[in-house]
Parts: sequence; structure tokens; C-alpha cells
Amino acid sequence: MRKNMRLGVCYYPEHWEESLWEEDLLRMRDYGIDTIRIGEFAWSLFEPTEGVFDFSMFDRFLALTEKTGMQVIMGTPTATPPIWLTERYPEVLNATADGTLYRHGLRRHYNYNSKKYQELSTRIVTRMGEHFGHHPMVIGWQIDNEINCETPEFHSEADHAAFREYMKDKYETLENLNEKMGGNVWSQRYTEWDQVTLRRPTVNGHYNPHLLLEEKRFFSESAIWFCRMQCDILRPLIGDAFLTTNGIFDNLDYTRLMQGLDFLCYDSYPNFALAMDRSGQEDPLFLDRKWSKNLSVVRALCAPFGIMEQQGGANGWTGRMEAPMPRPGQLRLWTFQSIAHGADFISFFRWRTAPYGTEIYWHGLLDYDNYPGNRRMQELAEISRDMHKLPVEPGQYLARIAVLRNYDNEWDAALDKWHERVEKVSERGLFEAAQLLHEPMDYLYMNESVTPEQLKKYDLVIWPHATILEDRYVDVLRSYMETGGQVMFGARTGYKDAFGRCPMRPMGFGAAELAGIRIEDYTFIGPYDEPGMAEMDGTSIEMPVFNDVLLASEGTQVEARYSSNYYKGKPAIVSRTCGQGRIWYVGSAFSRKTAMCLLKKLGFGEPYQAYLTLPEECELAVRGNLCFVLNYGRNAAGITVHEEMQDVLLCKQVVGQQQIAPFDVRVYALPETGK
Ligand code: GAL
Repeated sequence: MRKNMRLGVCYYPEHWEESLWEEDLLRMRDYGIDTIRIGEFAWSLFEPTEGVFDFSMFDRFLALTEKTGMQVIMGTPTATPPIWLTERYPEVLNATADGTLYRHGLRRHYNYNSKKYQELSTRIVTRMGEHFGHHPMVIGWQIDNEINCETPEFHSEADHAAFREYMKDKYETLENLNEKMGGNVWSQRYTEWDQVTLRRPTVNGHYNPHLLLEEKRFFSESAIWFCRMQCDILRPLIGDAFLTTNGIFDNLDYTRLMQGLDFLCYDSYPNFALAMDRSGQEDPLFLDRKWSKNLSVVRALCAPFGIMEQQGGANGWTGRMEAPMPRPGQLRLWTFQSIAHGADFISFFRWRTAPYGTEIYWHGLLDYDNYPGNRRMQELAEISRDMHKLPVEPGQYLARIAVLRNYDNEWDAALDKWHERVEKVSERGLFEAAQLLHEPMDYLYMNESVTPEQLKKYDLVIWPHATILEDRYVDVLRSYMETGGQVMFGARTGYKDAFGRCPMRPMGFGAAELAGIRIEDYTFIGPYDEPGMAEMDGTSIEMPVFNDVLLASEGTQVEARYSSNYYKGKPAIVSRTCGQGRIWYVGSAFSRKTAMCLLKKLGFGEPYQAYLTLPEECELAVRGNLCFVLNYGRNAAGITVHEEMQDVLLCKQVVGQQQIAPFDVRVYALPETGK
């Protein structure tokens, strides 16, 4: 990430009278904004009719950025093809699975595989690169906008044809394809390559699950290809400007997408976490704080990262979502939530609220009336002052625990209800337990490039439900354990191959072999069953959602036995020495309580207790030697500072009892680096 980028805002010169531009830029500068993003939806202005280019409006605007010293991130406009394009070349449009075309009127209605769209995108991106590539104020480029947002699925004719080629390349023969897709079930054998397509409508919407897994991989590959095509065009045209894109969305393997980019940006709207729950039953400890889970996923993909769109006001489209105006202090809290989790650049969406269009309720910092003294602008001023008290690069996020994930399993869980049930509970349970124990936690994506060395910085890695568990990953984990690491698996580990089939092999695959267990029986916990419970160290532990009933071989330690249902007394949690480390197998999903119990048993929780005692309402995140304490609560929180430390935002040394107001933030500099 560039060092001279810190605070930004998204701006749309095309939405405003030109007479406002300079004043807007000067005001932004007054608030410490050094970088703006522009251009990402302006194709119909850049190329008003086919092959006719007009960059004059943006030239005039860029001249003002030069005058005011404002750096620019230029967006490529491929998320919004103009109507002349989609009407003349309807093959560029995306379609539903039943072939209905998505028409003009919104955005992201194109597909990545149409040759025509690739040709016209190549031309506009080339022209923009040539025209703006060496402008002194253009320091970086955003590719497209939110690749795979609005829909991550593509079923145009161009996609069906490209999918066929993808399957030919991968499976080579129809015989092989039929075997891997389970063609003998329900007479689904293909006899010609032309018959191979993406999902089409079926009787009740369900479809061959192996093909659906390939469909997701294909959507991801198509998006990556399209993004990389633009990177390849721009690289030679833009000098040392950077390439990024904003995410993150479904059906897209960002570990691969990242390979063509300099860094990743995230669009952070914590209001989604609030708006998603309308029941009012949500645990008040985890409303907007839930967003930290998403930010941790982004950090796993790119650290440090940027925030291209940080929520700047209330959210809503005219036809979608109502969410309240952020309360006093909340914009600042959410900004620090991003920074605490690894963002070094924060750009707000957007400068001023749109006066027309679909997004008139997706508020910017300023309201329609442009009144400079509004509450959000005052908060921006405070954020700007705060950010200048922090180092430009606050350092790496520090965690002792990593939760492993990978795209095969993420996508399998999105398709397979059995997988989804355990995954959802555990994703939330592990995150919440780590949060409440103030035990910072990373995610780590397992792919072919991960080495045992990379895992070594963690004392424990947990792979909750790797239903697709390839032996190569077990090898990496085994090497990590050889030198002292601890690995924990949950129920439903290792019973599917890379095609999503269940091969005739003892369940648990390599994980069960290393743990010295056999999974002799398994079941969901049904409505008429007793809750899944086990006894561990003389107390009860919740074994929720699904129970693997284990048989332990010699040398495997039974840590807990089931205490409910027909498998009462059978092993529920086991562990076994592996080199200098240890492997754990937990026969259920991880609820918050289960995860808390296990983490405590393994000695985790409150790693910074020598310095700080925090209530549950506060999140703790540590970057380098900076401890970020975030109060999401509606009430003031009391914390204790045990050793004198610098309060970075209040600019003074503190020790003893401290009060953090609702939505307030503290940043303490630890007396020495590390724990
Ligand atoms: C993002 C998008 C922005 C804007 C914002 C509010 O997803 O990148 O262009 O639409 O949401 O809806």
C-alpha cells in the first residue's frame, strides 16, 4: 500500500455541477482527505456512442485535482455498460438460469465470457489507460467495481459455451466427466460435449451437486480472467500506479484474484450487520461487532488492505434496505474497526448523498443540502485528527489462533445443507468465543501455496468442517504439528473428495488417521433428540448440531464422552500426540459455549491481561504494539490499565481505571512489542 494514502472519499464529478468541484476538493483537503476514487461508473460519458471517446469532463476535473493536490484512484467502468452497447450486442448481457436476460436499468448486467464484451472492455480500458495512465494525480486504478456483486451467477449463452470448454480442459474425456459427475445416477450420462451446460431449470430447482461445485469454480475463474485481462492492459500504461479492486463477494477465489493485483480493498458497511437482523433478538454484544468477522476474512486475503468504501451515513436504496443513521460516534468506531483489523487506507462512501438515482438513501458524509456542519462531517474531522496520531502502517495484526478455511469448502457449504448447518454455527461460535475471550483470531486460507512455516506463528489452528479434505493439506498440517503446533478439527471432517463425492474410505480421511479414531456412527441432532452434550473434565460441554460418534484407538486420549442420546458414553472429543504437537477431533459443531470451553481448556483467553482488563462489550485487536479497544456497547465501559501506557488518541500516559464512552475507541501503545 502506498504510504501517502490515508484518508479518502468516493466522488462522482458527473453527478454535480462543475461549479461545485473545486470547492468540494478544497473542503475535502481541509478534512485531511488526500485521495479520491472516481470514474468507475462513467462509461456512457467516456464513450457516448460506439467508438467515440470523450474524456473532456474528467480532464477538467483532473486539472482541479492537480490544483488542489488531490490524488486519484481511477475506476474502470466495466460494471456499467451503456445502453447503446447492450442494445446493439445483447449477447453481452448476463442471464438467469432459465435464459432470461438481465436488461439495462441497474448495473453489473454483463457477463465475463462474451467475446464482444471482452473486446469492448479491452478498448475502453486501453483508451482510459492511454489517456489517464500518466496523469500525475492518478496514483492507482480500481478494476471494475465490486466484481460479482449484485449477482455472482452467470448463465448467458457465452457462459454455457465457456463452461463447456472449461469442462473439456479439466476432464478431457466424456468418460472421465461422467465418472466424476456421477453420471450413472438418474441417467445423467453425457454422450456429446455439446450437452454439457451450466445449470438449467429443473423440476424443482435442484441439480447435480458435483456439477454445481464446478459451476462455482467456473464463475470464479471467469471473474478472475476478466479482472486479469484489465490488469494486463493497464500495467504497461500506468507507470508505477497500483492496481486494486473492491470486494468481497461470492463465487470468487480472492487468493487467486489477488495474484494480478497490488492489494485488495474492501467495502465496509457495518449497517448490513444491523439491518440483517429484524427480530430484535440478536445478542446485543454482537450487532455491528459482527462485522469484524468480515474484516478478518479480508485480512486473511491481503494484509494490510484498504477500505475503498467505508460507510459514511445511513444506508438504503429506494427499493432495498432501510437502516438507521449511524449514531453519534459510530462512524468513528467503524473506521477504527477497519483499522484495527488491518486497513491502512480508509475511503468513505461517498462525499455527498446522491440527489437522484437508485441510491438516494445510501447517504454520504454530506446530505443533499451540502450543509458543512452536519454531525457526520464533524465526526470526519475527528477521525482525520485521530488517524494522524497513528503510525502510517500500524503493523501486523497479532493472533495466536487461526481458523482455517478454503474456497472448496466455502462453496460446498453454500450448496450442501448438511455442510451449511454445521459451518454456520461454528463460524459464528468460534468468532464470538474468541471475541469474548479477547483472544485475537485470524482466518487463513488453505491453498496449494500454504506451507507449514506459515502456520508456525499460530499456537492453534482450527479447521471446523473441512468436509473436502485433501491429503496434501493434511500433510501440511502434520508437518506443522511435528514441530509443536496444535490442530483442531470438528465434526464432518474429511468425507468428500474434490468433486464433492463421498468415496469409499473411512470417514475423517487423513484427520481421523492422525487422530487415531474411527467415526463409527453419526447423526444430526433432531427435534426429538436430547441436546448434544458431553462430559469433559467433570463438567458439561455443548456438542451442538451434529454428532460424530467416535471409536478411539490406543494412544488416543478421550477428552470427553457423550452424555446424551443413544451414544451416551461414547467418545465425543479426543486428542493425540503428533510429533511435538497435538491433534484434536471434536465430534460436533462449535457453538459459542463449546468454543469457549475448548479454548479455555487449551489455555487461551485474555492474552494481554497483564496490561488490560476489559469487559465483554469491548473488542480487543492488536496491531504491532498498538492495542485497539473498541466499545460497541450502548453504555460506557470500564477498563483497567495495569501498567502505565501511552493512550495514543488522548495523547497522555494512563494507568488504572478508565471509562470508554459508548462507541468510543482507545488505542494503547504496549510498553514493549508483542505480548
Ligand atoms: C457498493 C457499491 C457502491 C454503492 C454502494 C451503496 O456496493 O460499490 O457503488 O452502490 O454499494 O449501495
